[in-house]
Amino acid sequence: MKKKVIIDCDPGIDDSLALILALNSPELEIVGITTVSGNVKADQGAKNALKVLKIMNREDIPVYIGEEVPLERELITAQDTHGEDGLGETNYEEADVKINYGGVDFILENSRKGDISVIALGPLTNLAKAIERDEEGFNMINEIVSMGGAFRSHGNCSQVAEFNYWVDPHGVKEVFDRSKVPFSMVGLDVTREIILTPNLIELIKQIGGDIANFIVDITRFYVDFHWNQERTLGCVINDPLAVAYFIDRTLCDGFTSYLDIVTDGKAIGQTLVDVGNFYRKEHNGRILTKVDSKRFMKMFLERIFPESKNDIAIVLNNSKYGVN
Ligand code: BDR
Ligand code: CA
Repeated sequence: MKKKVIIDCDPGIDDSLALILALNSPELEIVGITTVSGNVKADQGAKNALKVLKIMNREDIPVYIGEEVPLERELITAQDTHGEDGLGETNYEEADVKINYGGVDFILENSRKGDISVIALGPLTNLAKAIERDEEGFNMINEIVSMGGAFRSHGNCSQVAEFNYWVDPHGVKEVFDRSKVPFSMVGLDVTREIILTPNLIELIKQIGGDIANFIVDITRFYVDFHWNQERTLGCVINDPLAVAYFIDRTLCDGFTSYLDIVTDGKAIGQTLVDVGNFYRKEHNGRILTKVDSKRFMKMFLERIFPESKNDIAIVLNNSKYGVN
């Protein structure tokens, strides 16, 4: 039976790759996509989601714009990382369908209907607002898998903070403190391992076709950012791992803990994982600390390009390409 999900996101280059993976995953029924301000503002994110839906021929999936600003902080976007438009300054056509408003209400309407999970790929503002609006309805969500936070890894927008949780730490706090929904944190500890290397990008280019060209185009800007920022060749694609983990629990491993977050000062956005049980509080989340990155990459590529399974296997199994 398919699992019903809402994908709450801020597309975003890696969000778009996550959407493409989800759309190629028969285990999922994507009930809708909600957008939140993060990489770009929520309305631009919705336009980008529509571009992905157009290229994937899935204009039937509704897109809802969610919250425009974090709970308390001023919005800081990541257009240095994802481009002015959020899609690497490419120029793709949007699906010709209406964008809806009311992302938070859409989440709550569906949680009230029951049997829905949320894969959250951006700041947690929409989820925090949903709790504030209807806590009981919110707690009817089956599960939340969130890309965000960092436990042992250093941050990616300060020494200690990961972008999604840094943008709206008060939103994260609201979710950590009030949600009763099983929560998994797919943070930088695991997503840093997921690198679309230049060799893999070349493989995608060789596979060819509309989706391959789209991926190669939107990642170009992201690759340049990674080189300039941290001398990584290729790009770290965080968000697709949250989708993959939602589908296959054996891809990552970790532990449950009490989770908290720093909401002001120099360490704003830092996730506090009470691994030593200092607070003696009930565990409110699962932290993923290990990932089988090679198996993830196989899943990611094979699902998006099923007709190229053999070529993918040749490249992934050939260590001389240095893709692992
Ligand atoms: C997260 O921040 C965003 O830039 C990415 O889309 C991802 O969700 C990684 O820290
Ligand atoms: Ca994202």
